[in-house]
Amino acid sequence: MKKTYIIGNWKMHKTIQETIKFMSDIETKLAASPTNHVVVGVCPSYISLEAAQKRAKQIHVFAQNCHEKEQGAYTGEVSVSMLKEVGITGCLVGHSERRTYFHETSKACNSKLHALFARYLQPIYCIGETLEEYKSHQTKAVVEQQIKEGLANLSRDLVQSLIIAYEPVWSIGTGRNASKEIAQDVADFIRNTVSALYDEDTAKSIKILYGGSVNPTNVASYVSCQDIDGVLVGGASLDADRFLELIGAVTVSNSI
Ligand code: PGA
Repeated sequence: MKKTYIIGNWKMHKTIQETIKFMSDIETKLAASPTNHVVVGVCPSYISLEAAQKRAKQIHVFAQNCHEKEQGAYTGEVSVSMLKEVGITGCLVGHSERRTYFHETSKACNSKLHALFARYLQPIYCIGETLEEYKSHQTKAVVEQQIKEGLANLSRDLVQSLIIAYEPVWSIGTGRNASKEIAQDVADFIRNTVSALYDEDTAKSIKILYGGSVNPTNVASYVSCQDIDGVLVGGASLDADRFLELIGAVTVSNSI
């Protein structure tokens, strides 16, 4: 049975103390009700990563960003080796808020993907179109470009272990989640694009997540889609009980 990924992106929320409380609440409850075939992760802020990782038993910890250079005069930045030292699982790359507010390009994302793979950290590469692009039917052209630029010069072996998160920008934090038909259609397109760039085996082995206003009520519809392996969750991952409810909804739908 395939594994379903549920990754919570906390963005700029939760202090260290709040992170500690969340981790102990959720780990205790997860231990009491095992989540078969579900991989759960959270993405705390840099400063809370160590506290989260120290308390992580079932949960995987991811960073929200990294710098592509190994070290140097880049004030305010954090390198992949610094993240690696904390013992976390991986890192988001190219979240739409990074692209919008920090002008991150797919080319910059490509350097970050190379840096993460070089240190054996699991990247989750985020892609998706804006509302204007969606309205003018450019979704597939945008996503294709983000994949081509983001994956440039990455070998087939590396790409086979990549996680891609498709998050339409218009659905992030808006309560306006994309229908499962849209999410499945774009996920299928992502696999076809990867297949054209690499081959069918590679397209089959990448994991594809949907993100954008996912909640405990709509999550099951996404994870039931043929080409969707899980979800990236913002708002609904902040409260431990709500996040557990969401995980529970996936566990139930997996067992049907
Ligand atoms: P949201 O955020 O679930 O609050 O829409 C998703 C994300 O930004 O990854």
